[in-house]
Order: sequence, then structure tokens, then C-alpha cells
Amino acid sequence: MESSIGMATRIRTLAALAVFKGFSTLPNRNPMSDTIESLSTENRVFSPPSNFAATARVQSLEDYKKLYAESIADPESYWAERASELTWQKPWETVLEWKKPDAKWFVGGQLNVSENCLDRHVAAGNGDKVAILFEGEPGDKRAVTYSQLLADTCKFANALKARGIKPGDRVIIYMPMVPEAAVAMLACARIGAVHSVVFGGFSAQSISDRLEDSEAVAVVTADGGWRRGKVVELKASVDEALEENTTVKNVFVLKRTENEVTMRNGRDHWWHEEIEGASEECPALAFDSEHPLFILYTSGSTGKPKGILHTSGGYLTGAYTTYRYIFDYKDNDVFWCTADVGWITGHSYVVYGPMANGATQVFYEGAPNQPDFGRFWQIVEDYKVSVFYTAPTAIRAFIKAGDSFPEGRDLSSLRLLGSVGEPINPEAWMWYHTKIGGERCPIVDTWWQTETGAILISPLPGATPLKPGTATLPFFGIDAAIVDETGKEVAANEGGKLVIRKPWPSMLRGIYRDEARFKETYWDEYWDQGFYLAGDGARRDEDGNFWIVGRLDDVLNVSGHRLGTAEVESALVAHPAVAEAAVVGKPHEIKGQGIVAFVTLKTESNACDALSAELRNHVGTQIGAIAKPDEIRFAAGLPKTRSGKIMRRLLKEICASGTVSGDTTTLEDFNVVAALQQTSED
Ligand code: WTA
Repeated sequence: MESSIGMATRIRTLAALAVFKGFSTLPNRNPMSDTIESLSTENRVFSPPSNFAATARVQSLEDYKKLYAESIADPESYWAERASELTWQKPWETVLEWKKPDAKWFVGGQLNVSENCLDRHVAAGNGDKVAILFEGEPGDKRAVTYSQLLADTCKFANALKARGIKPGDRVIIYMPMVPEAAVAMLACARIGAVHSVVFGGFSAQSISDRLEDSEAVAVVTADGGWRRGKVVELKASVDEALEENTTVKNVFVLKRTENEVTMRNGRDHWWHEEIEGASEECPALAFDSEHPLFILYTSGSTGKPKGILHTSGGYLTGAYTTYRYIFDYKDNDVFWCTADVGWITGHSYVVYGPMANGATQVFYEGAPNQPDFGRFWQIVEDYKVSVFYTAPTAIRAFIKAGDSFPEGRDLSSLRLLGSVGEPINPEAWMWYHTKIGGERCPIVDTWWQTETGAILISPLPGATPLKPGTATLPFFGIDAAIVDETGKEVAANEGGKLVIRKPWPSMLRGIYRDEARFKETYWDEYWDQGFYLAGDGARRDEDGNFWIVGRLDDVLNVSGHRLGTAEVESALVAHPAVAEAAVVGKPHEIKGQGIVAFVTLKTESNACDALSAELRNHVGTQIGAIAKPDEIRFAAGLPKTRSGKIMRRLLKEICASGTVSGDTTTLEDFNVVAALQQTSED
């Protein structure tokens, strides 16, 4: 029998292709739905275990349906009720002001996000409760209570203020997964500065692009972080990124690894020196509900990442509520979300969601396979993790590493599992369910995006029957639908585009400094209807479950992380040897999608393995290691339309099947395709 993982990946890719082709013929007929239907034969159903349901926040499908119907009949009341569970310094006057495409939630209300994540738990007598159970990759451990986290946040907030950082100023955070990363974010929130976290795996060039776009005035970083036994030289990348920068006046450097770094006089300051003598009190000033909280850059279909803007009151309401219901928050839970704070998952389900609820959680700095693939399960055992949230790509890597790693550990503390980042293939779901969840833990497959701020489609673990591979049903207040090109909802099991038909509190408020791109990317397609376009293809089954098929634009999903094909292409053409490049995704056993780059050289005869390695590294320095193509294919020419547009669809087909069977009538020169088919047969 074929490897189950390989098979599942192929099914997914075929389905994605089906969507792609299907849309070219819409709205007359929708052939993709047949394809998807026939490919998806998943009919196993897992009902919530009765002992889990008995103590869950929502205990049956009937309850969910009733509450959902109420929430959808009047989303504003639903969200206002949830928001009122937070601490507001000034109550709002209007729940929602919706002037398409701009939403304002809880207008007139004022709050401090860090007060909600820290002070209110201390005030409620929970100051001694552990907020963060930290484990560094080398094995160092630290427990930080809510009182301590509040004091640390206030001190660092005072240090930021002392260096002149004001409300509205942008601060780039480029840190390892240590408690201070959360402290830096919360300190910004406390003083109204807008953080923009850059994933520690991104390159100097990526930091520099984000610095330029955000016009940040400060950077918070570290002398390094531990990853696979080595030091990641974060400060050195920041130095490189700052070479030509004119806006950054202050750099705060945490000592984490004792790695040698250069400190520029007047600009660079050691974190520990800055907080020395700083007060442990810093007033939690009230900010407007719509005060910007953070910008997080993510990939789109152009070469330039977009700065997704989130604001305070609505975002926090979304993160707080979804964490509470979807992870069925209990006071004594030990939660562990394995995402880095550099991604939206790390914002909403490491920092703001769990902390707004006063949860205890694990922070782990390093790689899942350091020293071996048993590390995660050792952590689950040691800290008695009860709720565990990770990505399908990690699960596939664990499957490949072998069952002996989890089998040697006591995982009985786990009661709930979660998945995010891409559709989880049923085989990975089953392995997660049996080997990690001991067949007793529900799995919440959570669909959402950087733009949505919080989970929008997911099971409620005590209520929703699970089918491996579907994110199931929309969360309360979320009006999700699958529509055709005209905006009409499609029938059950027919494929279409995923849209959200009503505004929700944690929705993005824009693309930083690019109003036109915001409108065009998410709203123009269904402007008359006022729908938010998610950019994913999907179908709903007869029970209303949403099956996400994949992106409809030129965005790849590599190991659950978004990368624009155009970004990788522009990195490649920045190399002096390259004339032109086209990048497409290809099924990959572990990563879900791998990257194949078709490259034409200025001098064709230069093609060789050494250049191929050089180009891969070049992309690594331009963007970061996750963007390195798995494969470089040198080509004499790329398939183009008569107007010169690269036909990526054909390249995808060549990657997936080696040949082209789709429509080639718009192709300028078929010989190019013939040559590419030839090479893939070799
Ligand atoms: C994909 C990550 C299927 C989807 C939180 C989406 C998923 C993109 C799921 C957003 C899921 C995320 N099932 N697909 N459970 N979760 N996706 O912005 O294509 O990094 O549009 O946010 O990931 O990626 P982003």
C-alpha cells in the first residue's frame, strides 16, 4: 500500500488543482465539486466523549446550534456580551460602526490590553498563578507568575517610555521564544506603542523591509536564541538590517545566550541595564478600542508582504472568547501552543488569548527535534500539559520520526488537542488522535488567518462531531459561507470561495499604509454584497462542515506558513545570474507544500548544481530559511500568455504530474511547455 501521508498529500493537491480549474468555468458549471466529492471519502465521525462534554463550556451540538443561531441573528449583542467580560476603563457607546470595508468595534470605549492580560488577574487574587512555564532549548527552566509578568512588563514599559517611545510609535520585536518576547509585546500594549513582531527565522533583508514599511522607531531583540543546539544570531541580523535605516533610534538587547555582539553607542542598550532601577509600576493608560495594537506582516500575491493591522478592543474580544470556548478553558489547564510569537498564532493563542483568560501555559524556545523527536512529548509529560495546539506539518514530521518517541512518554495529562495552519490530512489526524490523544482527546481543527485575528471555523470540543480533515462549523457570531462567482451560496458539497458575510470584532482593520490594496484584496470581489474574501477554496458537506481545500491565489503554504510565490520570485531575480523566475508549490510529505522554482538564466550555459545551491542560499538571505526552494529547475523559457503573464497553472501541472493536460490555448509558445515536460520526464 502506498504511504498514507503521500496519498493524503496527493489528494489535497489534486483537490486544490480541481478548484483552480473549476473556477475558470464558473458560473455555468462547477466541475470541481464533482472532483472534490469523489476524492473525499472521509466518513469516520468522532463524537465528543461524554465525560469531556459533561464539563465543557458547550455540551452538545443542539446547544451549539441554538447559541449559534442566536449569535447570528444578532452578532452585535453576542459580541457585546463577550466584550463586557473584559475590563473597560470607559464603556463603549456603539458596538459596531460598519462603513464597508472599514469596521469599528466598541466605539467610544477605552481599555488597556495589557491590563486585561495581567493586572486584572492579579487584582482577582491570582497573582501567584503561573503564567509561563518556560523551557529553553538547552534545558533551562523558569516559571513566571502573573505578578512577576506584570512587574516585568511594567519595568520594560517604563524603559521604553524613558527612551521616548510614545503611543502610536511602531516597535519591531525580533526575539527568541522566551518570556521576554511576551513582556516586550505586553509592554508596547501597555504604553500604546504598536508592535510588529518579526519571526526570528526571517533574514536581515526581511527585517529591513518591515522596518521601512512600518517606519519603526525602536527594535527589541536578543544577543541570540537557541535553535538545534546553535545560537541564532538575532542581533547581527538587526545590525545588518539597520545599516541604511534612518528611523530607528533605539535597540533593546536581551542577554539570552552570552553570544558576542556589537553594541552601537547611543543606539543599542542592554535590556537588563535598562530595567535596572525602573519602577515595577507603570499606569495602564486607557486607549480607544480602535487604537492600533499591532501590525503583523504576511504574504500575499505580490512581492511585498502586507502589514496586517489589528486594533485593541475587538481583537482582544476575539482572542479572549475563542480561546475560552474552543480550547474549553479551565482554570487548572496547562496549555501549550507550539507556535512562535512571530506568527499570528503566537499573538492570539500564546500571548493575548490565553493571557486575557489568565491561563497557565508552556513556552518552549527550541526545535521539536532537539535533541531528538521526543522533546515535545517529554515537555508534555514534565509539565502535565492538558491542552496542546500544533500544526499538521509538525505532526507529519513526528509520524515520520516514528512512534517510539511518544510511546515512551506519559501523555495522560492531555485532554484536548488542536491543529492550525493548513488542512490536516486524515491520516495525520488519525495518528494525532490515537498516538498523542490516546483516543480520548477531541481535536479542534481551527481555521483562521492573520487577517481574521482569531479562529473563525472550528469544532467546539464538547459539542461538535469530528470528521478527520474538516474544520467543521463556524464560531458564534461568524457568518461564514461558500459562494460562487456571483456571491450566491453554493449547494452542499459544491466547491466555491470561502467568504465571511458579516463583520466580526477581531477582523483586520487594514493593510498598513495601503488602503487600496486592502480594499482590492479582500473586498472588491464581493463589493456589492459586502463579503470578506478569505482567499481559500472550500466546500460544505451535508452536515454543514467546512472542508478547506487551499488557497486560490498565488500564496503557498509551506509548513503551515504563508509565502507568496511573487516574494520568492523577486528574491530570485535579484540574483545577478537570473533573468526570470516562476515559483510554484509542489506536494511535500512533511511540509505540505514544497517550493519549486523554474529559473531562466541570463547565460543559459551557467546552469549547474553549484549555482542551484547558491540560488537557494540567496533566497535564504533575502527572506529566510523557510523560503528556500526545495528544487531549482533551470529552463530555457517559461510558459507565458500572449500578453506576457507567466502561466503558473501549467508549471503546477508539470510539477504535479509531469505533463500538461489543461487548456493551453492562451499559451504564447507551446514549445516552451514541451521542453519543460521533456525535462520533467528525464
Ligand atoms: C490556511 C494561520 C485549513 C488557510 C492561522 C488560510 C488552514 C491560511 C487552517 C492562513 C485549517 C489555516 N484548515 N487551512 N485549520 N488554518 N489554514 O495567515 O489557507 O498564516 O487562508 O494564519 O492558512 O494562514 P495564516
